[in-house]
Amino acid sequence: MDESIRGMKVDHIAIAVRDLGTAIRTYESILGTECRQREVVESEQVETAFLKAGDSHVELIAAFGPESAVIPFLEKRGEGLHHIAFTVDDLEEETQRLVTSGFHILNEPVRGAGGKRIVFLRPSDCHGVLVELCQPI
Ligand code: CO
Repeated sequence: MDESIRGMKVDHIAIAVRDLGTAIRTYESILGTECRQREVVESEQVETAFLKAGDSHVELIAAFGPESAVIPFLEKRGEGLHHIAFTVDDLEEETQRLVTSGFHILNEPVRGAGGKRIVFLRPSDCHGVLVELCQPI
């Protein structure tokens, strides 16, 4: 394939929710599937649930602890779209490419849900959406 035609797969779309159990039931109904992955991510003090949606997933994120990064989000914006994650083969290479193009990276690569290495791009660089890049393990 032409190198200039870069295609990134949507790995998951993440939704911030107040009650994880309720939200899991809602999205199990919508997607006609069962949640098979539920996990606490200590670094962010969140509990996440992944539901399969075709080749992608819906990630539901709820607070897990008083310092949870999702609490300010819920207070400010309420439940709703939290971030979109794209799969990359080489996190360092893609991060470097984007930084060179003027994007701002919010963090050094960390381990996210499922042990994937992730970085986030500054939402104001991405038309108001928090964008995650994730490299599968
Ligand atoms: Co995510």
